[in-house]
Amino acid sequence: MPPRLSITRLSKSFAGTRALAEVSLEVAAGELRVIAGENGAGKSTLIRILSGVFGDYAGEIRIDGEGQRLTSPERAMRAGVATIHQELSLVGALSVSDNLLLYRRGHALAPVDGEREREQAARVLAEMGLDIAPETLVERLSLADRQLLEIARALTRKAKLLILDEPTSALSAAEAERLFERLATVRAAGTSVLYISHRMDEIFRLADRITVLRDGRCVLESGRDETTPHELVGALLGREKRVAPPRQVTAPSAARLEVRALRAKPLVDAAFAVRPGEIVGVAGLSGSGAEALMSALFGAVRPEHAEIRLDDAPYYPESPAAALARGVAFAPGDRGLGVFQELDVVANATLSSLERYCRFGVVNRSSERADVARESERFALKAAGPGAAASSLSGGNQQKLVLIRCLLTEPRLLLLDDPTRGVDIGAKHDVYAALEELADSGVAILLRSTELDELTTVCDRILAVTRGRICLELARSEFDRERLLAALMGAAA
Ligand SMILES: Nc1ncnc2c1ncn2[C@@H]1O[C@H](COP(=O)(O)OP(=O)(O)OP(=O)(O)O)[C@@H](O)[C@H]1O
Ligand SMILES: [Mg+2]
Repeated sequence: MPPRLSITRLSKSFAGTRALAEVSLEVAAGELRVIAGENGAGKSTLIRILSGVFGDYAGEIRIDGEGQRLTSPERAMRAGVATIHQELSLVGALSVSDNLLLYRRGHALAPVDGEREREQAARVLAEMGLDIAPETLVERLSLADRQLLEIARALTRKAKLLILDEPTSALSAAEAERLFERLATVRAAGTSVLYISHRMDEIFRLADRITVLRDGRCVLESGRDETTPHELVGALLGREKRVAPPRQVTAPSAARLEVRALRAKPLVDAAFAVRPGEIVGVAGLSGSGAEALMSALFGAVRPEHAEIRLDDAPYYPESPAAALARGVAFAPGDRGLGVFQELDVVANATLSSLERYCRFGVVNRSSERADVARESERFALKAAGPGAAASSLSGGNQQKLVLIRCLLTEPRLLLLDDPTRGVDIGAKHDVYAALEELADSGVAILLRSTELDELTTVCDRILAVTRGRICLELARSEFDRERLLAALMGAAA
């Protein structure tokens, strides 16, 4: 039997960038192959070719032995490829059930049977464990629910090859678990899976085999049991990982941010403080109130009640602009909200700090560029140049760009919502080092993350939010994964 997928010397260049260079691989029916690699290594490029987004590739693709020219998304679908892209593709203004059936309806000549469609949609949602009414508008869903919906939609297509580009980056552990169960079923039915991930635990749990890309080339292919996380990281980075020693904090007593009472649905009552030089973590599942906390502090949502002080003056942000004016910067976790695709790297980076580069209405381009160059180097931002459009950056590099924009505002208080979502393991440590450096210079940082390891690595203190309340607060010396998890699941007394 020919392999399910066979790729021979696949290459793709963008003006000046070799994104993929003569990659060959074979995937068996029912196999789950992890594709790993640093930000910008070529992972999304590979899967975009397979899903017909880039028709102008060089090389050969065979599915079940049959040669394919995947020159359009329709062709890829007909060849049996279903893809969940890194950037979601649901239509916000349509209902959940319309989104689920969008593709099928577009291709069927049969008249629409509303009742049957509703039933079908309800069944798909139930299989994915999603408790959403089919008529809900997608724009009203949380990021996690949208991700699960996108996955559910792809699973309805009975594909030969299912491709997932960082599917769990916005999911909680429990939601990811549901996805893994569904993947097992799909594979048992013979569907092969290409799975892109930056998460080591996930990679070693799910993979049959692992392929590592670096600078567009395949640098390692191995069975899961023939390699180790250590070897994998070495192959990913082409160097050893640096691990910084934990930081010593001597937090001064006066609070930078003092939340005395904050109510913002579903957050019922929050009270806590962040001092200059401190990194305080916020842990919370989606819907717990943790996201609401961040949005309210940045003025993106109006709290029902707020008694907040910033450097001992009243703080009640009416809007993100008002928050910025007070020295509060925010990096959203959904980079779709943070990056302006048509603007170039420099314009994206300095968007929130332009007045610093302006004198008498004229922008000082050279100092603007110098600052962006310095920050880009710090985060190892991979882009064709400062004038490259943000849309030409890989997903993880777009996320780094959002962070750079925040830092260039020279904030007093930095609010971060899942800042390393989609950032590779090497760059993650660059981000952590940058946060620690900032904290050392006196910035107060509030960091929400869906990754507990991230919180325990960089934070001085962690607040756990469950059902709208801060139910547990741990200092660094008390960090305990089990206790945190229990608190997040609502099991702690
Ligand atoms: N549309 C485009 N125009 C120009 N360059 C591009 C385009 N898409 C990707 N590239 C470049 O190709 C290279 C590979 O990008 P790709 O998106 O495949 O990376 P990736 O491995 O998916 O990274 P990440 O983990 O950050 O998602 C990068 O250098 C990127 O800047
Ligand atoms: Mg990518």
